[in-house]
Amino acid sequence: MKRTQFSKSARETRRIAEEFALKLSIKETRATVVGLIGELGVGKTLFVQRAAWVLGVRGRMLSPTFLIARAYPLPRRSSFKKLYHLDAYRIKNKRDLDNIHFFRILESSRAVVFIEWADRIRRYLPKDAYIIRMKHGKSSQERNIKLSSMK
Ligand SMILES: Nc1ncnc2c1ncn2[C@@H]1O[C@H](COP(=O)(O)OP(=O)(O)O)[C@@H](O)[C@H]1O
Ligand SMILES: [Mg+2]
Repeated sequence: MKRTQFSKSARETRRIAEEFALKLSIKETRATVVGLIGELGVGKTLFVQRAAWVLGVRGRMLSPTFLIARAYPLPRRSSFKKLYHLDAYRIKNKRDLDNIHFFRILESSRAVVFIEWADRIRRYLPKDAYIIRMKHGKSSQERNIKLSSMK
C-alpha cells in the first residue's frame, strides 16, 4: 500500500481505510494502535468508521467523548477481538488517560485501538503505533493521506 495517498472523495477515503484496515497486524499480547491526526472535518471519523466496518463492526458507531473510550466487540470471524474508538481532543494529561483506562486498553490482546487527535497524546502511544495524517487539498473534497508508523 502506498504511503501517501490522494483522495478525491469520501468514497475514495473509505476505500483507503478498507485497504489499510485489512493490512493491520494483530498482536497477541497487546493492542494494535492507530492514531489519526488532522484538523476538524478532514475525515478522521469517516476513516475510523469504514475501517471498523471492514473489521466487522455493524450498526451505528457513537462518537467517543473524552470521558469514554468506545468499545466494540467483533464477530468471531474477525481477526481482532475488540475495537476501541477514542477521541483525544480534550485529553490533557495522564490522569485523563487513566480515567478512560487507556493504559489497560493498550494491554489488551488482539484489540485494535483507533485514536482521533492522536497528536494530543503522542508521548503515550506505543512506538509501533500506525499514524494516519490527513490534510485538506485544494478543493473541498480533496484530501492528502499519509500512512506511516510513529518513529
Ligand atoms: N476526500 C474525502 N475524504 C474524507 N472525507 C471527505 C472527503 N471529501 C469530503 N469529505 C467529508 O468530510 C467530512 C469529514 O468528517 P469527519 O470524518 O467527521 O471529520 P473529522 O473526524 O476529521 O472531524 C465528511 O462529511 C465527509 O463526507
Ligand atoms: Mg472526528
